[in-house]
Amino acid sequence: MKILTILGARPQFIKAGSVSREIAKHKEITEAIVHTGQHYDANMSDIFFEQMQIPKPDYFLGIGGKSHGAMTGQMIEKIEEVAVREKPDWMLVYGDTNSTLAGAIVASKLHIKLAHIEAGLRSFNMKMPEEVNRILTDRVSDILFCPTGAATNNLKNEGFPFVTATNKKQLINNVGDVMQDGAIFYKNLAVKPNFEIKKDFILCTIHRAENTDDETRLGAIFEALNEIAKDKQIILPLHPRTKKIIENLKLNIKNLTMIDPVGYLEMVWLIDHCELVMTDSGGLQKEAYFFSKPCITLRDETEWVELVDVGANVLVGADKAKIVDAYKNSSTFNQQLSTLNLYGGGKASETIIKTLLEY
Ligand code: UD1
Repeated sequence: MKILTILGARPQFIKAGSVSREIAKHKEITEAIVHTGQHYDANMSDIFFEQMQIPKPDYFLGIGGKSHGAMTGQMIEKIEEVAVREKPDWMLVYGDTNSTLAGAIVASKLHIKLAHIEAGLRSFNMKMPEEVNRILTDRVSDILFCPTGAATNNLKNEGFPFVTATNKKQLINNVGDVMQDGAIFYKNLAVKPNFEIKKDFILCTIHRAENTDDETRLGAIFEALNEIAKDKQIILPLHPRTKKIIENLKLNIKNLTMIDPVGYLEMVWLIDHCELVMTDSGGLQKEAYFFSKPCITLRDETEWVELVDVGANVLVGADKAKIVDAYKNSSTFNQQLSTLNLYGGGKASETIIKTLLEY
């Protein structure tokens, strides 16, 4: 069996780390990897391949730093060339980025079987490019590997399964979350980053367009962070998009510990040792839970609704008072829930590969 994997953005490298490790256990499977180049800085890309021992991409397309249309369009063109040459049995796409959508469109046009890992997630906010990417990708995938029961239900509510370009009804499978596989595997390999870290710090990340591209929201978030930082160290590994905008807007950041993006092993260390996570990232909300940390989510909605349901995560949007209040109450969040097994317990990659082989 030949698999063509499409990657491009940081969270996809992390997810693929676990699945590629599983693929390598099977001599009957070969994997060719396409890196679209959506994330191209060394600390947003190369470091993950090195640290997580992900096989080097067979194709690097170098398509990053463009508008959504230009980026997605050029990716479709180049991925199609690769797919025609490689003739894979399966294409594998992850999550909800422009690289995911580009891969999905190519597979559906060439009638190549498509598997979507992290299918069925919904924010119900169609203004998010990620929401559009995931809905369109789900619609044309042959296998929908869902990470949660909520994701499976979303698909059922939307009328899935459909018949795809390969003339078969879609297979919907709740396999758990490949990010948990990674969290378990890499926990013991975590590396302490090299800068001054105080005890009981807060780990924060901000990169969602809905926050970074809205001056009022971003301003309110930074006001809240600055207030909280008078009390507790806030470590903020900065996504290049956020960095550019903060510099342009000249936002007050004097109380915050801003650092460049870190590798996965440093990130795992920071999550494992922090007191609290504050983020607008999807992945980090779950990682907080995997490491039994409370999470304040700087968004109005989340795809990971089960975390809110069990009281491990609170949604505060970009409201300064709500953010500060949530911080003050964070010790009351439910923190002992990792045993609930909301995300499959670390067997997702194994189940995914088994399913592909049996399909
Ligand atoms: C993308 C995904 C998002 C995911 C996120 C993880 C889409 C629509 N969004 O958003 O779902 O959560 O990745 O990080 O695909 N840039 C750099 N260096 C890099 C990468 C990006 O400077 O290594 C700059 C780009 O030039 C661009 C900005 O950052 O100006 C945003 O990059 P983009 O690829 O649009 O995606 P993200 O915002 O990272």
